[in-house]
Amino acid sequence: MDVRLLRPEEAAAVAAKLRHRFVVADRLERQRRDECLYLVAWDGGNPVGQALLHRRRPSALAVAGVVDSLPYIEDVFVLPEWRNQGVGTALLEAAESGAAARGDRGVSLAVSTGNTAARRLYTRLGYVDAGVPVHRHATTEPGFDGGGQSGNETVVDLVKRLEGLAAATWPTAHGGGRLSERR
Ligand SMILES: CC(C)(COP(=O)(O)OP(=O)(O)OC[C@H]1O[C@@H](n2cnc3c(N)ncnc32)[C@H](O)[C@@H]1OP(=O)(O)O)[C@@H](O)C(=O)NCCC(=O)NCCS
Repeated sequence: MDVRLLRPEEAAAVAAKLRHRFVVADRLERQRRDECLYLVAWDGGNPVGQALLHRRRPSALAVAGVVDSLPYIEDVFVLPEWRNQGVGTALLEAAESGAAARGDRGVSLAVSTGNTAARRLYTRLGYVDAGVPVHRHATTEPGFDGGGQSGNETVVDLVKRLEGLAAATWPTAHGGGRLSERR
């Protein structure tokens, strides 16, 4: 299993398994503009998980305070049959490496208060409460089959300091740089 930036020629495979093609196309375009990293975990030619690292928190999700100036990790997702095998950990480590390589001192994310599996994972990796009051958070995410999923969830904001993390070479948006590899 390895995690790398999505390449344009891999978009169809990701659209078939993980997210709607419009979402994939939009993320690739924003990655090309260097606004985000679209990280995908692969088992051979099959995408098995993904995460999006925004270079800065989207203004629509601003919560005020220092957390708004940090890179923001969104839509961490692993196919059910691939969970509990380290894929989520590898995706988060790749996102953190991408942020550290640009000199960012931390990353942030928001997690649903009831998502115990994700919260356990983030805690194990060193994420702590950002000190922002728990709040409602709008979500709109077309599924890979085209079905829209929108809603409103109650989230807690978490942050992780990255000082001490070895800074890897920042991958180019076009080159599909590999950020981590595991077997
Ligand atoms: C949350 C989510 C991304 C975690 O992904 P994952 O691939 O299962 O994560 P990992 O495998 O790295 O870690 C999960 C657990 O498996 C354990 N694990 C990892 N590798 C393992 C291995 N080889 N053998 C046994 N256990 C292992 C980890 O220690 C971890 O245990 P913990 O929950 O006690 O900390 C996944 O459950 C998911 O996609 N959920 C739905 C979407 C979601 O909620 N996303 C988060 C939005 S904020």
